[in-house]
Amino acid sequence: MTRRPAVVAHGLKKSYGDVRVLRGVDLEVEQGSVFALLGPNGAGKTTTVKILSTLLPPDAGRAWVAGFDILRERTRVRRSISLTGQYAAVDEEQTGAENLQMMARLRGYARRAARARATTLLQQFDLTEAAERRVRTYSGGMRRRLDLAASLVTEPSVLFLDEPTTGLDPRSRLALWRVIKDLVARGVTVVLTTQYLEEADELADRIAVIDHGTIVASGTADELKRQVAETRLDVTFADPASYAAAVGKLAGLVVSTEPDELRLVTATDGSAAHIRSLLDEVDPSGTAIAHFRTRTATLDDVFLALTGRPAQPHDTKEPAHV
Ligand SMILES: Nc1ncnc2c1ncn2[C@@H]1O[C@H](COP(=O)(O)OP(=O)(O)OP(=O)(O)O)[C@@H](O)[C@H]1O
Ligand SMILES: [Mg+2]
Repeated sequence: MTRRPAVVAHGLKKSYGDVRVLRGVDLEVEQGSVFALLGPNGAGKTTTVKILSTLLPPDAGRAWVAGFDILRERTRVRRSISLTGQYAAVDEEQTGAENLQMMARLRGYARRAARARATTLLQQFDLTEAAERRVRTYSGGMRRRLDLAASLVTEPSVLFLDEPTTGLDPRSRLALWRVIKDLVARGVTVVLTTQYLEEADELADRIAVIDHGTIVASGTADELKRQVAETRLDVTFADPASYAAAVGKLAGLVVSTEPDELRLVTATDGSAAHIRSLLDEVDPSGTAIAHFRTRTATLDDVFLALTGRPAQPHDTKEPAHV
């Protein structure tokens, strides 16, 4: 039996004025899997999620979510999905419990059932102690958890999470990862966006790397790593002159450089013969290299190789207060 994909998109395009934000995005997400859309600030992640969750019409292209057309069957799509946006959407002046009860009422629960559902969710998201406090007093991590709880009042067929863990401390991040894994184990399909390679690697069955509105690569984490050669040779030089000479000599083989550290990274097949010949080439006299190591390519290396830029820009948005 072949399962229908939970999300299919063909050629999604979107522009704001002259700015082409999506330039033809294709996606396919299997039911019951986690799909990560990985990309830096401004890549088009939120725009893609908004289109798939029917909040924004595309200029061109088509998409189906849970089997329904996002344009022609918008109401059915909306009934099948939940969305946790990039910025918290809960009411600051209500308590955590009140927020969840309100969501449950909106989803059609009777008053008593809504209260019971809220209690369960508060427990599940470790918010029981804060249940009667106004959200205004919550930390960033608590807010994020409440937001996620609110989107799970009724269990969706497809859950969209836009940067669910940005700004969370490591403990809250791990807690959220656990919640996501539980949901997937129950058959929910999760589409998440992230700027964290580690997160995509940890959670996602498949990853699509998006940059400037274009999917530049997709596959499993392992496939992406293989796509850019598996082994890396990191070489640190003893002095700036040797470093500069080596960068010149290896030119095409250099994957990335860290000039301040006098370090360059090259791709290698990992064989002793290749590594020896690379080292000999840049250091014939045996004095130029301070040290070297070989390692498996990380998703960071993959991103750099695919886009020519590091994955996590340093001018990233303000982390939420935690
Ligand atoms: N309403 C809008 N009007 C004009 N430009 C917009 C609008 N919304 C988004 N953009 C632009 O579209 C591009 C993609 O934005 P989008 O929010 O999809 O990126 P993102 O990948 O979610 O980034 P981030 O990691 O910062 O959340 C950006 O250059 C952004 O400035
Ligand atoms: Mg975004």
